[in-house]
Order: sequence, then structure tokens, then C-alpha cells
Amino acid sequence: MAINKTEQMKKIMEEILNLKKSPLYAERIKNKAFPVIGEGDCDAEIVFVGEAPGKNEAKTGKPFCGASGRVLDELLDSIKLKREDVYVTNIVKDRPTANRDPSKDEIKIYGPFLDKQIEIIQPKIIATLGRYSAEYIMKRFGLEEEIETIGKMRGKAFEVKTSYGLVKIIPLLHPAVALYNSFSRDDLKKDFKVLENR
Ligand code: URA
Repeated sequence: MAINKTEQMKKIMEEILNLKKSPLYAERIKNKAFPVIGEGDCDAEIVFVGEAPGKNEAKTGKPFCGASGRVLDELLDSIKLKREDVYVTNIVKDRPTANRDPSKDEIKIYGPFLDKQIEIIQPKIIATLGRYSAEYIMKRFGLEEEIETIGKMRGKAFEVKTSYGLVKIIPLLHPAVALYNSFSRDDLKKDFKVLENR
């Protein structure tokens, strides 16, 4: 009998809790931190993929629960969506030391868990947040030829055929860019409109 989606997600959680081969495992144990698997509706139409947990996320085990998360909530609200309507996760499930960018090795270790989550949820849209997740997902779905800078790809939709049907990959800017003032919230909201017209 096929195990249900929640059970499958729990299994992923257990595997990551014991992921001793990860270079981030020892740090997590030392800091009494949590891995961040993801949160939301396992039947969601849209999956958002960020980069990796930050300090607040590792403390709580919840994705995007700090300042970037507040921007994400505002962006979701602008297209009348709530966290519960979507699934939010990251490529890397443990916090990279001192909030540095995820390394190639870390992406290689944690990427297969994200792949499994996508297979479980079977979303119609995968919206990536930031350049690391855009590159990972684009490569994963055979779109390496289409990869450009995130500035050029943002807000575009790339349709791909998957084992369960057509899926749109939509690269978006990381919500944190609104905190560094590199872009305004309105710039990000304009890109999010592509999800409203899905
Ligand atoms: N930034 C991310 O990419 N993911 C989080 O969960 C939090 C901040």
C-alpha cells in the first residue's frame, strides 16, 4: 500500500535528522538547531524553493520565518495566497555556517531530498527564490541551456514535461533582496503577478 504524502515527508525528515554525512550535521547538533524540511500543503499547486535556512529558521525548524519570510508573506498576500495554500522549502535543509551561501557539496547532498519532495507534491508550478535554487531546478528539469542571470530570468515561466505532467518553472528574486534595498517590494510584487495569472 502506498504511504501517504505526510508519511513520505516524515520519512524525509527522519533521513535528514540522521544525515551524518552532511558537513552541516555536526554544527546543527552542536547548536541544538533543527533541520528545515519545508512547510505547507503537500498537495499544493505551487512549491517555493529558497536557498537554505538562516538563524531563525534553524532555531525553529520553519522555513522563511525571519525578515525574508515577512517579505515572502507580503508577496504572497499581494497575489491573495497564504502560506497554507502553498509549500515552502529550500534546497539545503540545514543552516550553512554564518549564513554563507550554500556550497556545491551541500547542494549535492541535500538536492535529492528536494527532488523527492517535488515528486511527492507533484506541483504545477515550481517558483524558485534566488539564483541557487533557480540554477538547481533549471538543471534538474533539463533547462540548462536557458540559464541566464537571475536578473534576466526573473518572472519568466519555463514549461517542462515531467513524469506527472506539465510543470511551469518560474525563477523569482530572493525576498531578501528587498531587505538589502537592491530591489523594492514593488519590483518583487510585479514578478509575483506571473503566479496570479497561472
Ligand atoms: N532564506 C532562504 O533561502 N530560506 C529560508 O528558509 C530563509 C531565508
